[in-house]
Amino acid sequence: MEVIIAKDYETLSRQAATIIAAQIIGRPDSVLGLATGSTPVGTYKHLVALYREGIIDFSRVKTFNLDEYYGVAPDNPCSYRWFMEENLFKHINILPENTYIPNGLAQDTAAECREYEEKIHRAGGIDLQLLGIGGNGHIGFNEPSDNFQSATHLVDLDPQTIEANSRFFASPDQVPRQALSMGIKSIMAARRIILLANGKAKARAVYEMIRGPITPELPASVLQLHPQAAVIIDQEAAALL
Ligand code: PGA
Repeated sequence: MEVIIAKDYETLSRQAATIIAAQIIGRPDSVLGLATGSTPVGTYKHLVALYREGIIDFSRVKTFNLDEYYGVAPDNPCSYRWFMEENLFKHINILPENTYIPNGLAQDTAAECREYEEKIHRAGGIDLQLLGIGGNGHIGFNEPSDNFQSATHLVDLDPQTIEANSRFFASPDQVPRQALSMGIKSIMAARRIILLANGKAKARAVYEMIRGPITPELPASVLQLHPQAAVIIDQEAAALL
């Protein structure tokens, strides 16, 4: 696992965007795995700027997001579909039909998850997966558990995640209790992974991910086993290393 310590959030975001831009230039029909949350917002801003400068072209790129809240409609401003439209998709020339996010309103969640995996497979697999990390070490919505085996699945959110994400909702009661998430198996199948973390609230999880044992109790620790994983963190998130 390569560890890159950036001086601040701005530098971290620029570095992540540069890696993604290089991927797209090298392979214009790249399949990107994308993440939501506060962490990648700066990366998306830089990608939009690179697009506007004519440096990258998204017309052949496909994207698969890690997760979506269950029971939340795509036009709900709290949905991850909405987040992606606002922070990236509406600012670039990606084709709407090339942006995939699990359907939070699926009746048959098992079928939705199975089809999501099939779509990733038909697209040729994920070339580059972007990740954040939760304070509890989750990646996607893969919460601490007792195994690493899962593909895309319906998850019960951890109380710590509900608390952390309540800042995006009017009150903690409104945070959905479940989500559809790519599994650890789906994430580990990506050819290359970049995980971003900033701020001191992530320092403990970052330390455990890099220096701790590989355990599903700290889901991000599995990335120690990935042959092409890079972690880009700011100095606050690196404080315990
Ligand atoms: P954040 O979330 O970027 O909003 O901190 C990261 C995560 O929970 O994976």
